[in-house]
Amino acid sequence: MKIFLDTANFDEIREAVSWGVVDGVTTNPSLLNKEAGKNLKDIVLAITNEVKGPVSVEVNGSTVEEMVKEAEEYYSWCKEYIVIKIPMCPEGLKAIRALKQKNIPTNCTLIFSLNQAILAIKAGATYVSPFVGRLDDIGEDGMELIHQIMTYLEEYDAEAEVISASIRHPLHVVATALSGAHIATIPFGILKKMFKHPLTDKGIEAFAKDWSNFIKSG
Ligand code: G3P
Repeated sequence: MKIFLDTANFDEIREAVSWGVVDGVTTNPSLLNKEAGKNLKDIVLAITNEVKGPVSVEVNGSTVEEMVKEAEEYYSWCKEYIVIKIPMCPEGLKAIRALKQKNIPTNCTLIFSLNQAILAIKAGATYVSPFVGRLDDIGEDGMELIHQIMTYLEEYDAEAEVISASIRHPLHVVATALSGAHIATIPFGILKKMFKHPLTDKGIEAFAKDWSNFIKSG
């Protein structure tokens, strides 16, 4: 499973990249808003330079013309790594289709049902992003949607990569890995929790103590 970082914060990205675990990054307008005051192009290019992998940047227009224009501009900044994030809606599907014809990769976001995923995949999305946490929030089963999409892709030999998004806790990461989904996009706070296990902490402490006793004894 590939790990993407779900953030637009450069310090978080640099730290996680230094651990050797980041395959890509996803951003969205809310994550960018946490970096308010900075220039979008500067933020995006700093991320692509650091990650050297797919970086999703979302369009904000509401018509296909607006979305495609915005997409072409963002894509021109770094054709090697930029992926255009497009919201699930009829104009978004048109934009995905138009961008596929121009060989511009897309990530269809705000997917909450298999039907939406089917449409995005059919229109030619490179990635689809089902939001598991937000489904759990309203009493639905977010991971069940991931399983449905994976079954659909296998059954029809359809081409798209599934990004398990809106991950809220480490168990979402475990469930995503076991589902066979291609990618989990993980907030930095959750990524840090993936390190943790009380027996590891206890073991490190005990080894450090024993090592120090051994050194002193010689
Ligand atoms: O990648 C989508 C993600 O950023 C949404 O997460 O926590 O706002 O539902 P959340």
